[in-house]
Amino acid sequence: MRKLYIFAALVAVVLLACKHDPLWNPLDLELNTAVAGSSHSGSADYFILPESGDLAAIPQSPANPLTAAKVELGKMLFFESAFGVEAKHYSGISTFSCGSCHVPAAGFRPNRMQGIADGAYGFGHNGEGREKLQEYADQEIDAQGARPLSVLNVAFVTNSMWNGSFGSGGVNTGTEAMWGVFDPGTAINHQHLGTLEGQNIEGLKTHRLLYNRELVEFYGYKGMFDQAFGDLPEEQRYNRTTASFAISAYLRQLLCNEAPFQRWLKGDMDAMSEEQKRGALLFFGKAGCVRCHNEPNLGSITFHALGVEDLYQNGGLKTDINDRRNLGRGGFTGKEEDMFRFRVPQLYNLGDSGPYFHGSSKQTLREVMEYFNAGVPENPRVPQSQISAFFHPLNLSPSELNDLEAFIRDGLRDPDLQRFVPKKVLSGFCFPNNDEQSRKDIGCE
Ligand code: HEC
Ligand code: HEC
Repeated sequence: MRKLYIFAALVAVVLLACKHDPLWNPLDLELNTAVAGSSHSGSADYFILPESGDLAAIPQSPANPLTAAKVELGKMLFFESAFGVEAKHYSGISTFSCGSCHVPAAGFRPNRMQGIADGAYGFGHNGEGREKLQEYADQEIDAQGARPLSVLNVAFVTNSMWNGSFGSGGVNTGTEAMWGVFDPGTAINHQHLGTLEGQNIEGLKTHRLLYNRELVEFYGYKGMFDQAFGDLPEEQRYNRTTASFAISAYLRQLLCNEAPFQRWLKGDMDAMSEEQKRGALLFFGKAGCVRCHNEPNLGSITFHALGVEDLYQNGGLKTDINDRRNLGRGGFTGKEEDMFRFRVPQLYNLGDSGPYFHGSSKQTLREVMEYFNAGVPENPRVPQSQISAFFHPLNLSPSELNDLEAFIRDGLRDPDLQRFVPKKVLSGFCFPNNDEQSRKDIGCE
């Protein structure tokens, strides 16, 4: 279909060279050439994200074939606080969920410099208004020493986390000896369950969520588990593994396929503004962003040091200079050459919430653009020898930065993430948080 449009556009440009019809913009042709030239397949179609309902087209693990029943269950469990029964203090029980740190309206990120689930209260407008509870010591809260990654378009993440430590294949082939060494959770890679499936089993423990038959029945989820996992014997049906499989199925169909850039890729030449198109042209061309952000989610499973600050330098709790997360890929492999290198994150729906980078050092997308444009590392702890050769001054003009920012902020913004949010969860609890302040903030009472 797209090829037809491009062909028609070409013919139109040739025949009507002087006519200014917005549909047949030479900029579209130029952009198409740049996008196709940057893609791993030679065609711009490479960057088209699958439709969420087309489960067969979505990357998945043979251990957990996608089904609609799993997706529906996962859609609730991701936001369901009822299972938060392993809270450290009574006041935290059943008040948090995955959605506490991965807030849909904030692009499935926390909208603050650090996500906190158990041990905090409040939500604010979009997750920014979360504060530590007094009775929790800093070490008792559920928070990590890096800013949460978005879970959008995560189906394309074959090795998850900033350091790529989860996942049994891909870049982790050959790292087997390190599985479970620095982070005991990564020992799950040995089970070859699928990257997200494995990670999330550990994630459910880390985030103090428990599933067993009693709880599942009590909160009304037994039927949904039976629907999704009827092929398993009952004694294997209601636990963290099945919960992880359902949540992972849900995560895999979180695809920003309605973003203007996606619609443009699918042939709607009017979906992006001229400004966004010029920005895209910079992204796939002169600004060199695509050298690293080059997979369908505009991230990649490669690791680079940009020399950004760490979370402890920007107000993160429960982290300090010795946090292994500061070492990036090196914190997982232990290898000198991997030190301070971080995975290239996806770029969809970033504009609705800051801050940015693994250490939350940039408040706005504009600051991020300026950081790339200046090409000067901000973290003196990262040796110059580690800094990526692709990170250097770009000499973009202010108006070029405007264009680039418009592409990232608006061109890559799927306007309807609400379609991935359930109307209610079966417990009837407020979500994604269920503490008293959050219930007020969210409008549950
Ligand atoms: C306390 C905040 C918090 C909660 C709660 C939370 N996460 Fe996260 N999540 C993070 C952080 C922080 C990272 C990045 C950690 C890193 O890479 O070092 C992350 C990363 C991820 C990733 C990896 C994304 C990628 O691109 O590699 C997935 C998947 C994920 N979380 C899923 C979940 C699920 C499912 C739940 C609920 C079981 C959950 N998260 C609950 C903070 C949280
Ligand atoms: C050398 C590879 C590389 C190049 C080139 C590159 N990036 Fe990145 N980008 C990364 C990595 C790695 C990160 C995460 C760094 C960190 O947090 O430690 C990142 C982070 C980002 C973020 C923040 C995402 C978030 O979740 O916080 C944005 C936005 C971004 N890049 C946009 C761009 C743009 C626009 C360009 C072109 C001007 C560009 N990048 C060029 C590797 C690259």
